Amino acid sequence: MYPFKTNRTLVRDRWYIAAFSHEIDRTPMERTILGLPVVFYRTEAGKPVAMHGICPHRYYPLAKGTLRGDAIVCGYHGFAFAQDGKCVDIPSQGTASGFCQPTYPIEERGPLCWIWMGDAARCDPELIPPYGDFGMDQPGWRTSSLNYFHLRGRYQLLIDNLMDLTHLPHVHSHIPGGEAMSRMALREIDDNGPYQLVREGKLPWTPFSDLMWGPDTRYDGLATFESHTAFYGPELIRTGMPIFTAIEGHDRVPPELGVLHIMHGITPETATTTHYFGFSTRNFRLDDETLDEFQLNSDRHIRQQDADAINAVEERLETAVAFQRELLVRADAPAVKIRQKVQAMLDAEGARA
Ligand code: FES
Ligand SMILES: [Fe+2]
Repeated sequence: MYPFKTNRTLVRDRWYIAAFSHEIDRTPMERTILGLPVVFYRTEAGKPVAMHGICPHRYYPLAKGTLRGDAIVCGYHGFAFAQDGKCVDIPSQGTASGFCQPTYPIEERGPLCWIWMGDAARCDPELIPPYGDFGMDQPGWRTSSLNYFHLRGRYQLLIDNLMDLTHLPHVHSHIPGGEAMSRMALREIDDNGPYQLVREGKLPWTPFSDLMWGPDTRYDGLATFESHTAFYGPELIRTGMPIFTAIEGHDRVPPELGVLHIMHGITPETATTTHYFGFSTRNFRLDDETLDEFQLNSDRHIRQQDADAINAVEERLETAVAFQRELLVRADAPAVKIRQKVQAMLDAEGARA
């Protein structure tokens, strides 16, 4: 299935963001992940639980049930399942049963809950992307603008979108400087860490920079900057605002020009739909709620523009692919490289299955 050689397109042996932490509470919530319905809730002690979301009795959604202590009680005939999935009550018989409903490991880290739905033998929390890399939950950094989007498009379309910034002046035409961003020299770093793309270019000060860094940091002339994109896996990509390295006519870059990472959590819902978790981290203006507000709204608007483009592509993707081959150009090289990396993950999982 496009864009892969295999029909199986979902990589299962990854930690995916299942939910923002605030979405999971004492009211059961269902979300389909990797094609399977999962019910989420918290125990009385506050621990998140992820359990297969369909009752094994008559297949009623468990999310329509209620919580009794740490167990979830099905809303149809009252079967109860403990947090580890054990069936602890069948009211019509007045007994428990030996049955165990599947549950999934879930790791809560800061504002994110990660789920592992792959091979249990390979599950290792160390495989969660390293927060230190993007300032999450780190001293001197602030996380903001948590935004959730539902995409009516396959996850690979979002990866393609993020790896190729030539869409900036077209999809996000309200952002000044997009033209420059889309024509920059590209350098890739492909060693043992995440696959990284570094774009280098020059930008004049724009009203957008004013809003982001504040009018005190305004400059004349051109600034040299780098923009980094890092692919941690199909589940997480980091992009960001430009990092200024030099400003024409200035001896140094004003310290107020800090780093803002824009994070993209990508969780397949089904083979053709995706949960998109957006958030940002920054190391400047930490207590500035005006910036939080600006960032939240700007980010919501920008990500929605990408979501709209992806939804439009998916709508007729199968017929489009059947009609003609895609016309790939130089700017597509990083996205194609990522496809190869993901294909290799799929092949490895296929070989183990
Ligand atoms: S369907 Fe859940 S108890 Fe019957
Ligand atoms: Fe975009």
